[in-house]
Amino acid sequence: MIGHIKYFVGNWKMFGIPRSIKIIDRINSFFNKDKKNNKSYKIAIAPPHTLIQDFSNKYKNKKIIISAQNCYHKDSFGAHTGQISPFMIKNIGIKFIIIGHSENRASGETDKIIQEKIQFTLKNNFKVFLCIGENSTEKRKKKTFTVLKNQLKSALNKRYNFNNIIIAYEPVWSIGTGKILSPNELKKIIIFLKKFIKNHFKKKTHIKILYGGSVDKKSIYKFKSIKELDGFLIGSASKSSKNFIDIIKNFYK
Ligand code: 13P
Repeated sequence: MIGHIKYFVGNWKMFGIPRSIKIIDRINSFFNKDKKNNKSYKIAIAPPHTLIQDFSNKYKNKKIIISAQNCYHKDSFGAHTGQISPFMIKNIGIKFIIIGHSENRASGETDKIIQEKIQFTLKNNFKVFLCIGENSTEKRKKKTFTVLKNQLKSALNKRYNFNNIIIAYEPVWSIGTGKILSPNELKKIIIFLKKFIKNHFKKKTHIKILYGGSVDKKSIYKFKSIKELDGFLIGSASKSSKNFIDIIKNFYK
């Protein structure tokens, strides 16, 4: 059931120093040798801000995409110590960015802040991976669908070009825990999200949706049958080239 292009996106979080480029180099040589590379998948890696300029220069003419992990919610320049704006990131040649990760939401990023980040990153022509997901309490209270709808409604606007937005569904309780939804449950959520977004924002086509949360070389098998899924956002396992490559190999096995 693997037809359309899939994204394998590595989110390094707070990991990496200059020599960690070796991880990307190894992934890149695998990617170049893998026969499927032009047809069925794309790879993006999101290192921390300290590395993205150097890495994106090195990978400028290659197929691996270097993405940013986050940005500040105001644009241009300003009196915001320690912050980096979408405009500044765009100007070092980065075109992809993760917004709304639950770890950032947990440290104070509100819906309003995420809304502004989306607005300014799209204005700067980024492709945005927008993370959404319910936490364990919300799941237990059967609020998953309500939470996801609210996160989408507050972050997005029907005026946006949805070709530049990729949703990453990351249940908070699944991140770094090894706990994963059953393929059936996940499929239901992905279908629900695609339909909801298309109808609510009055779009003609379905948006792309990735899954994130404890994806590794073992769990990847579970997702093979979900043809509605457009790829994966991978945390821990993206910090090792072997683990990351094994995920891709096992997915297409
Ligand atoms: P893990 O793959 O480590 O569970 O992290 C997922 C994630 O948060 C990716 O953004």
